[in-house]
Amino acid sequence: MSKKSDSTTFSLPQRVLHWLAAALIFFNLLLPDGMTEWDRSVKKTGMASADQISSANIHAYVGILILGLVILRLALRFIRGVPASPTREPEIFKVASKFAHAALYFVLFAMPVTGMAAYYLGYNEAGDVHADILKVILWALIGMHVLGVLVHQFYWKTNVLRRMVFGEPEISDRSRP
Ligand code: HEM
Ligand code: HEM
Repeated sequence: MSKKSDSTTFSLPQRVLHWLAAALIFFNLLLPDGMTEWDRSVKKTGMASADQISSANIHAYVGILILGLVILRLALRFIRGVPASPTREPEIFKVASKFAHAALYFVLFAMPVTGMAAYYLGYNEAGDVHADILKVILWALIGMHVLGVLVHQFYWKTNVLRRMVFGEPEISDRSRP
């Protein structure tokens, strides 16, 4: 089995999984209203209408799909590996990005698990952690992640974005101006 940074590119499945998961995560982050309404109704009246349940189910199924994709990504990371950080990136940021990626994976795991505990098992505290704490942490991590990509693209001028979009291998410093 190949170990982590043996790989010099992100494979097609790794790239598809990254962008598909990102799209679904934005969907659940930006459009949780069906679930929020279900939650409000259940807390207020002890029940929800069939319509509220169907729109809440969309949030739940998308969230469970995200969890599945995240597990697949972690498996691929372990089996196939991911490219090493670009040589141009300062050492401290290489370490920071490893922590940020680990934190993203952790929150992407915790978010569906707390959501399921609230939705299927009725643990309101898990719902509060999901909606009030993890949501904010996830937004902050995504913000830092996108900022990091912009710094790579325009300041350090590495090809991390092309690595994740086209599967390019890292361009060595010697072949760049
Ligand atoms: C990564 C996946 C997920 C994301 C990004 C996400 C995101 C969100 C967001 C943004 C809210 C609204 C928070 C607010 O009130 O501002 C929410 C609420 C909620 N979500 Fe999710 N969710 C995910 C997965 C799930 C799953 C898998 C379930 C259940 C099967 C679920 C169940 C709930 C419940 C019950 C609420 C209402 C909680 C409350 O207000 O107390 N979520 N979610
Ligand atoms: C919901 C949003 C997102 C999440 C959760 C997320 C998560 C991650 C994670 C965990 C990695 C580490 C590599 C891996 O394990 O596959 C990664 C890599 C990457 N992401 Fe995202 N991402 C998101 C959105 C974005 C967006 C909007 C962009 C574009 C601006 C982007 C660009 C990249 C790039 C370029 C890499 C590769 C970094 C490298 O080459 O080392 N991501 N992403």
